[in-house]
Amino acid sequence: GRVAVVMGGSSAEREVSLDSGRNVLAALQARGIDAHAIDGIPALLDALRAGHFARVFNILHGQHGGGEDGVLQGALESLNVPYTGSGVLGSALSMDKTRSKRVWQSLGLSTPKFVALPRGADVHAAARQVGFPLIVKPACEGSSVGVTRVFAEKDLDEAVKLAAKYPGDLLMETLIEGDELTVAILGRQVLPSIHIVPKAAFYDYNAKYVAEDTQYICPGLEGVAGEELGALSLAAFDALGCAGWGRVDVMRDHAGCNWLLEVNTAPGMTSHSLVPKAAAVAGIDYQELCWRVLETSFR
Ligand code: DAL
Ligand code: MG
Repeated sequence: GRVAVVMGGSSAEREVSLDSGRNVLAALQARGIDAHAIDGIPALLDALRAGHFARVFNILHGQHGGGEDGVLQGALESLNVPYTGSGVLGSALSMDKTRSKRVWQSLGLSTPKFVALPRGADVHAAARQVGFPLIVKPACEGSSVGVTRVFAEKDLDEAVKLAAKYPGDLLMETLIEGDELTVAILGRQVLPSIHIVPKAAFYDYNAKYVAEDTQYICPGLEGVAGEELGALSLAAFDALGCAGWGRVDVMRDHAGCNWLLEVNTAPGMTSHSLVPKAAAVAGIDYQELCWRVLETSFR
């Protein structure tokens, strides 16, 4: 049947999603799949009610109309339309970094020390609890929007102000210094990790999508350390009830300890994105990757 590739939407990651979506659409079409672009959830639901599509490839990113937070998944469940990736619970939990961390903590999976910051919380008291350097982020955004690394108390208020521009609570966590790693999961397959080496201080929005000088080393870790990282990532993914595909972001400190940051349930698929790079190293080209993701809707 026809496949709706739903992209764009109304989240802060709209542009990233459009970029991901156009690439996915072209790859599916090149494989002979009758795939069509749909922009955003309202248009998708209209098309589904009209019976235009048999399944959905969800490449929306983010919350609030972003399609990555469980809302779209619930609507699709109620319409009985199959879709790629995680269901309601896995999507909703992964979108909320604070609650993801609480689940991991309860299972003994290590994640950086943190304080949840509801609106109006005493951020200076929280910072004393977490300690500097720390990182301030919106709890429910992606692509590093609104994220600041804070090395001294004088820079705290500005970081909080920036994060507070985005909806929802904020998260303050200990900054782990070391290597930034990410692990893609495809079906039950753990793809080789990627060690991200941005030219700038950290892997921010610019380093993710604009700069051409970010370096990617894949596999990022080999041997036993690589297997440990893969196992931890899959455990983190399973703990949140995720399914189908996703990407787990991890920091590895100088002592070689891994710290879980978050799971992305509809990870970027742009030409700069990480999952396609890891898949390529595993011998899965972009077209095949899109097919394998589409297959996650066959359930
Ligand atoms: N949130 C972006 C799209 C990613 O994780 O790749
Ligand atoms: Mg993310």
